[in-house]
Amino acid sequence: MLEPTETEMLNPDAAGIERAVAIWRKGGLVAFPTETVYGLGADACNGAAVARIYQAKGRPSFNPLIVHVADLDTARRYAHFSPQAEALAQTFWPGPLSLVLPVNKEGALSDLVTAGLETVALRIPANTLARKLLHAFGGAIAAPSANPSGRISPTTATHVAEGLGGKIDAIIDGGNCTVGLESTILAPDHTPPALLRPGGLPVEAIEAALGGQRLARPDDPETPVSPGQMTSHYAPSARVVLNVAARPDGALWLGFGPDCAAADLNLSPTGDMVEAAANLFGHLHALDRRAARQGISEIHVAPIPTRGLGLAINDRLKRAAAARPSGGAART
Ligand code: TXA
Ligand code: MG
Repeated sequence: MLEPTETEMLNPDAAGIERAVAIWRKGGLVAFPTETVYGLGADACNGAAVARIYQAKGRPSFNPLIVHVADLDTARRYAHFSPQAEALAQTFWPGPLSLVLPVNKEGALSDLVTAGLETVALRIPANTLARKLLHAFGGAIAAPSANPSGRISPTTATHVAEGLGGKIDAIIDGGNCTVGLESTILAPDHTPPALLRPGGLPVEAIEAALGGQRLARPDDPETPVSPGQMTSHYAPSARVVLNVAARPDGALWLGFGPDCAAADLNLSPTGDMVEAAANLFGHLHALDRRAARQGISEIHVAPIPTRGLGLAINDRLKRAAAARPSGGAART
């Protein structure tokens, strides 16, 4: 399961659905059709499973992923719905609309799914097979498009096999995707509601449902979206310093690998990249809280190799190190 070499091709029948769900429950990766594009799905509450999505896609950075559920009751386990969000969900779900909403912590989504943010992008896909799979699974499935990083999104099972065959556990074949474009991403609680990514649901349809209200668009100077809403980058309040190979004085130390026994927390004591990725945001949050409690201003991080998921881990840590502490001036 950790390093799949042979990708199972599953039929869109009861046996195929049962097998796909069994793989998800074990933390594996199954590509499945939605009405927009094929998604590369994993259990959104299992950090190691989500880390394997990035590994299989060869993504050089951790962006937050879209979380897929079968119905609105399930969606409420993972996010808080304002009245406006609820109305949009009622109008457009199931369908090609993802709503960015405050995370409901009780849902226990992996931090890697939200890239450490306090919000989550959720949707109910309209594809019948997708809904059967999600219903049978019962929980939340994180799924970016099922293509290697930098390649175009797949709209058939054959596209998925060409790009990811041998790297994922299974593909369930549900024929062609009818929309063929990724979902439209909307932040409904922004004032006015903000379009974060154009996609399969036309903006005009959303504006009409909002009584003619114009959406804020990132590229429109007349309806600016505040950077805090747009930049999907979590940064700790404490200053982050990278490549610190020995225990620092007066700072917390985030370790990696067996040489960091004295670390406050270790991303992976054995040096396992999947485990390190799964722990990244949770450990940063935990150390940031500890730093605030103890009046410590810096978190130092051990060197992390750039092999495999290490590339994305280093990318995210570099962004955290470059970010200014909240409310503070730039440190020179
Ligand atoms: O149609 C689709 O949406 C496909 C199918 C498989 O459902 N999925 C998809 O997922 O395109 P993904 O994971 O590639 O989309 C991720 C994008 C991020 O790059 C980011 O733009 C946005 O969704 N996103 C996710 N969570 C967010 C958040 N909390 N805040 C802002 N943007 C978020
Ligand atoms: Mg994509």
